Amino acid sequence: MTPEQITLVRSSFALVRPIAPQAAALFYDNLFAADPQLRPLFHGDMEHQGERLMKMIGGAVELLDRPHALLPVLRNLGARHGGYGVQDRHYDTVGAALLKTLGQGLGEAFTAPTRDAWAAMYGVVSRTMQEGAEIPVEPARLAVVA
Ligand code: HEM
Repeated sequence: MTPEQITLVRSSFALVRPIAPQAAALFYDNLFAADPQLRPLFHGDMEHQGERLMKMIGGAVELLDRPHALLPVLRNLGARHGGYGVQDRHYDTVGAALLKTLGQGLGEAFTAPTRDAWAAMYGVVSRTMQEGAEIPVEPARLAVVA
């Protein structure tokens, strides 16, 4: 990601923060419409799940310019997702649902460069999570390697 893309992701996510619960609900609507088979993977209260998702995205947005801090967090998150039954191909579905939701939520503010910036960010996040799912390493060692 370029520094300009990091700025675009941050400034557009600032517009989402005030409507985070609605954005999360819309995201899961989009996700389960795209692939209803993903619904049974989720067991808890979806409002709470939405909060966790938005908090994690918000944290990643903050840390985009500090990969040494961000990447181990994402690898661990990815390793946990393996345990939730998430497979590599699901990441594309989630990425598409995320971009669709951002487009719906941001309207005209979702310009082509903003879209490209989010696609680049999701690429980094999903690749790193999938890496973590493939090579589960205990967290302490991960922190040393990173
Ligand atoms: C941007 C990528 C993603 C982020 C930031 C993210 C974030 C989270 C967070 C924060 C949790 C809470 C539990 C934990 O921290 O381990 C979680 C749980 C979960 N996520 Fe994700 N996730 C992502 C991608 C995916 C994908 C691709 C799937 C595929 C369907 C998925 C399905 C799930 C499921 C099934 C759970 C557990 C729900 C339950 O136990 O009821 N996530 N996710």
